[in-house]
Amino acid sequence: MFYHFYESMIRPVIFKFDPEFVHEMTMSMLHHVGRSPLGFLLKQSVPERPVEVMGLRFKNPVGLAAGLDKNAVAIDGLGKIGFGFIEVGTVTPMPQPGNPKKRLFRVVPAGGIINRMGFNNDGVDALLRNVEMSRYDGIIGINIGKNKLTPLEKSLDDYLICMDKVYRYADYITVNISSPNTPNLRKLQFGEQFDELLAALKSKQADLKDLHGKYVPLAVKIAPDLSDEELASVASTLLKHRLDAVIATNTTITREAVFDMPHAYEQGGLSGRPLLPKSTEIIRKLHHLLKDEIPIIGVGGIDSVSSAREKLEAGAKLVQIYTGFIYRGPALVKELVENL
Ligand SMILES: Cc1cc2nc3c(=O)[nH]c(=O)nc-3n(C[C@H](O)[C@H](O)[C@H](O)COP(=O)(O)O)c2cc1C
Repeated sequence: MFYHFYESMIRPVIFKFDPEFVHEMTMSMLHHVGRSPLGFLLKQSVPERPVEVMGLRFKNPVGLAAGLDKNAVAIDGLGKIGFGFIEVGTVTPMPQPGNPKKRLFRVVPAGGIINRMGFNNDGVDALLRNVEMSRYDGIIGINIGKNKLTPLEKSLDDYLICMDKVYRYADYITVNISSPNTPNLRKLQFGEQFDELLAALKSKQADLKDLHGKYVPLAVKIAPDLSDEELASVASTLLKHRLDAVIATNTTITREAVFDMPHAYEQGGLSGRPLLPKSTEIIRKLHHLLKDEIPIIGVGGIDSVSSAREKLEAGAKLVQIYTGFIYRGPALVKELVENL
């Protein structure tokens, strides 16, 4: 009920404070209230809109994108808001502090956010303790990355460590090679490095399937800043290794869409409304390249039913939101689930 007032009454107040402070307060509230007898206060009823993707049944096609609940502390609270799936992480093998603060900025006139968090997280073991305790009955994706101090040539080790640990707990696993805030990470999307990474991860997935007796789909999350050639090469490597899904897209390093706006030239990745056309275009091209052989999860700039429909029409089977959720609040989740 009070979700109706988010944009008119709550957002104007919280947007007066530092974005990361507000984020921490909100996560703490969702953590404590989500699991308490007061959890019903967060509840928002949304209709069932089941979809099957990657062999998994999603109760609706609207998910929370990675990066909001990096340590999986608020799954139960977020679940009550009505998300059909929640992607936690990015998590790394070891805990790490991320980049120095300030590292999170609102670009309000454009409905955008710029972040250079740098995978601040409590490490994979802490995340798994939280996932294990959660009672959410939807799909949980776990998004994995590499520690900043791990040299690029050793990246695979970090992904394998994370995969090994999260496999038992995840409904699907996302390999994040597209954050602009870990030096050189996005190089893993190209050429031989990408080919070798996917070969090793798929082989690990086969071993873990035998060990645990369950198949956990593997998704790769890509950047929006890829040329047509690069995208074609990414698509053919995804097809070669029969990846289970691709998540398009992460944040952009470009700034045309926020030219001269406050904070526009902070370093990091830009998300939200300014990212919408770019990420939808990537989805459209990717869908053309992949046909229907690998499902696409569409993310980037969704803040309304029409922007979510654009993603589905471009070829996405599911959608995720992050920045739109910050600007429009929980009512956006209900609006999307009811109207898609
Ligand atoms: C503050 C912030 C932190 C993020 N952290 C992560 C992350 O840890 N891992 C990841 O895969 N994506 C991360 N993202 C990217 C989002 O998951 C999403 O792909 C991107 O923001 C585009 O969607 P949006 O326009 O709905 O925000 C982050 C985004 C923001 C705004």
